Amino acid sequence: FEQYPVRFLWGAEEFASIPDGAVPEVAFLGRSNVGKSSILNALMASKGMARTSSKPGRTKQMNAFGVGGARLTLLDMPGYGHGSRHSWGREIMEYLRSRKQFRRAFLLIDPIHGFKEVDMMIMEAFVDMGIPYQLVLSKTDKLEEPKKKKDRLATPHINEVFMDVQGVMRDYGGHSGFGEILATSSEPVKKGINELRWAILRATGL
Ligand code: GTP
Ligand code: MG
Repeated sequence: FEQYPVRFLWGAEEFASIPDGAVPEVAFLGRSNVGKSSILNALMASKGMARTSSKPGRTKQMNAFGVGGARLTLLDMPGYGHGSRHSWGREIMEYLRSRKQFRRAFLLIDPIHGFKEVDMMIMEAFVDMGIPYQLVLSKTDKLEEPKKKKDRLATPHINEVFMDVQGVMRDYGGHSGFGEILATSSEPVKKGINELRWAILRATGL
C-alpha cells in the first residue's frame, strides 16, 4: 500500500457527472473535522496529499486519489455539518448507491464526541440504500492522554467506546453495516492504519 505511488485524480462538486469506471473505490465519510483527510494521508503515507485543517469545513468537494496506478481509488468527502450544502447528503448517497465500482464507505466517528444524530441518519441511509459501510474510530490517541486535566474524568475508556459502538451497530448496522470496528489514529502516532488497509483490500477484493 504505502510503497505504491499515489496521485490526485480529480475533484468534483457535482457528483452525478463522474463517469463510471472499473477501478474499485472506497470512500471516507463523517462529520467535519473528524479526521477524514488526515486518515487518507496516513493511508497513503503522504503528508499533504489530502488537505487538512484544524478548522472544520476544509474539504469542499469530493476528491479522488489513485493508489498504485489504477488499482484503487480513495475518495475524500466534504464533512457533513459546517457549511456543506443542504442537498449534499442526498447527492453523496445517490453517488455511492449508483456507482458501479464502489465497494465500501468508511464512516469516521470521533470517540470523544461520540455518535451524533447526523451519524445515525447516515447509517440509516446506508442501510436503506444497501450501501456497504464500516465504522472507523478516529483520533483514538485522545482517549489515552487528554491534554487538559479537567478532560481526564470526562474522557471515556476505549473499552467503553467499543461497547457503545457495538451497541449502535446492533441497533443500526442492518444488513449493510460491517461488524468489525476499526480503532485508528492518524497523528501524533499512527495506529490501526494497517488494519484499515487490510479492510480496504478485503472490501475491494484486491
Ligand atoms: P473536513 O474536511 O473539514 O470535513 O475535516 P476532516 O474530517 O477531513 O478532518 P481533517 O483530516 O482535516 O482533521 C481535522 C483536525 O483533526 C486537524 O487539525 C487534524 O490535525 C486533527 N486530527 C486528525 N486526525 C487526528 C488524530 O488521529 N489525532 C489527533 N489528535 N488529531 C487528529
Ligand atoms: Mg477533509
